Amino acid sequence: MTQELTTSLATEPARSSESPGWWRDAVIYQVYVRSFADSDGDGIGDLRGVRERLPHLAGLGVDAVWLTPFYASPQADGGYDVADYRAVDPLFGSLGDADDLVRTAHELGLKVIVDVVPNHSSDQHPWFREALADRPGGAARARYHFRPGRGAHGELPPNDWESVFGGPAWTRTTDPDGTPGEWYLHLFAPQQPDLDWDSAEVRAEFDSVLRFWLDLGVDGFRIDVAHGMVKAAGLPDIGHTEQAKLIGSQVLPFFDQDGVHEIHRSWRRLLDSYPGDRIGVAEAWAPTAERLALYVRPDELHQAFNFQFLKCPWDAVAMRQVIDESLAATGSVGAPTTWVLSNHDVVRHPTRYADGSPERGLARARAAALLTLALPGSSYLYQGEELGLPEVTDLPDELRQDPAFFRTSPDGQDGQGGQDGFRDGCRVPLPWTRSGKSHGFGPGGSWLPQPDTWSGLSVEAQTGDPDSTLELYRGALALRRELPGLGDGAMSWLQAPAGVLALSRPGFVCTLNTLGEEIELPVPGRALLSSAPLTYEAGTVCIPPDSCAWWAI
Ligand code: NOJ
Repeated sequence: MTQELTTSLATEPARSSESPGWWRDAVIYQVYVRSFADSDGDGIGDLRGVRERLPHLAGLGVDAVWLTPFYASPQADGGYDVADYRAVDPLFGSLGDADDLVRTAHELGLKVIVDVVPNHSSDQHPWFREALADRPGGAARARYHFRPGRGAHGELPPNDWESVFGGPAWTRTTDPDGTPGEWYLHLFAPQQPDLDWDSAEVRAEFDSVLRFWLDLGVDGFRIDVAHGMVKAAGLPDIGHTEQAKLIGSQVLPFFDQDGVHEIHRSWRRLLDSYPGDRIGVAEAWAPTAERLALYVRPDELHQAFNFQFLKCPWDAVAMRQVIDESLAATGSVGAPTTWVLSNHDVVRHPTRYADGSPERGLARARAAALLTLALPGSSYLYQGEELGLPEVTDLPDELRQDPAFFRTSPDGQDGQGGQDGFRDGCRVPLPWTRSGKSHGFGPGGSWLPQPDTWSGLSVEAQTGDPDSTLELYRGALALRRELPGLGDGAMSWLQAPAGVLALSRPGFVCTLNTLGEEIELPVPGRALLSSAPLTYEAGTVCIPPDSCAWWAI
């Protein structure tokens, strides 16, 4: 192998999670609270359940935990419809439980990131109730986007914007006397009215909400729809249908407007005013890696999810291009890149990569995990990926909860990943034990049924089995901590046959074979870990199909 330098980003050496800049190469584990662990047997995961299972995460070797929303909410969109930003929903526990969880996590050396949902509130938030009760033009309506309708009788929505979940982005209100009134904007479900960030009251309220959780000790925020808070002046028509899809990259008058950056700058000042290294992570859908990098300029947020990588197909050329573009874009502003393969909004990656064969999907998912953990920057893991869980694709419709399913198409068959009603399929509760009512998820059942085959995928079944996906993740995360060349820092590409990626970091090489057949390479060094068994022959190594290996050099 000869070295061909294509990317070399000068960044600082690897850090421990105690030092400033811990986030630059942190491995952050996403806990979807409803589906992680249930302490009280009601079939729904909760904060106590998460706390009891924190040793699993510390043992796995991650640096931080991101908790999805556990705030008071009618759960019209899995808690991304918040009715009280300072309260814990009784479904998930109490404020005391949140406090205990943060304390225990810190004792175990884990940072805690919580979600903040600033683009919209719940329609049950006191502000929205007040707004509905107010008159058109009233002060309570100025916190949201209320507009008169178009048409002779205001019977048409104020503009042609569509909801991300399907259908118009506007719902008409009814006045106190029963007559049809103004319309309000909701880029997501009708139960999620968009807040108007031109309102000083809205800005001040969110500063206070951030302070509330920072005072409780959280280490940062994952900012929901961080690209959506500012809408283009005059709310102009778009002129066509088929607008935003979940995790999209379209240029739209309601997403990625330049005005959002000023909000993020002010939040950065707030975060920096707290002791410790508290961080902001943007869930931002931007058209390009360059636009996304604007969110992580030195005076803005610390990280942004790299959805370009998540959406990349299993193809060496495409992967290398996304990796290069991501590193160049974030490198230009001095920020680390993030690597994300799955989350609670997309089809789990073993299923995305399967191409009709679940075995192939799992092989590729294991290889992708080793690739991403070898890349410079920070990695996000979605709960259950360390078990190799596939998407559950046969959930009965009557159990589904995803609003996208009900609004996109009645049969949920429109074929758009994440929009086809299958967001529930990546949210099925985790299997912890081989047997038991909900495979150890809790003492009761589980809000979505777990497939029987998950017995063999449980934490219990995989622990101690050297070939298991769980042990692969444990091994990779342990090595990532040990090897100074991994985490933050520089990388370069090595020459490799078509379909193979070989990347080099100080003292380290990672080889990925994306092809459906094995490939023979000169032995790059001492094998550290591989996602499939390697075989050797006189100075060469056979890298199995759809596999990845780590080497010490
Ligand atoms: C992104 C969240 O990840 C998703 O689950 C939610 O539906 C939307 N934002 C709206 O809050």
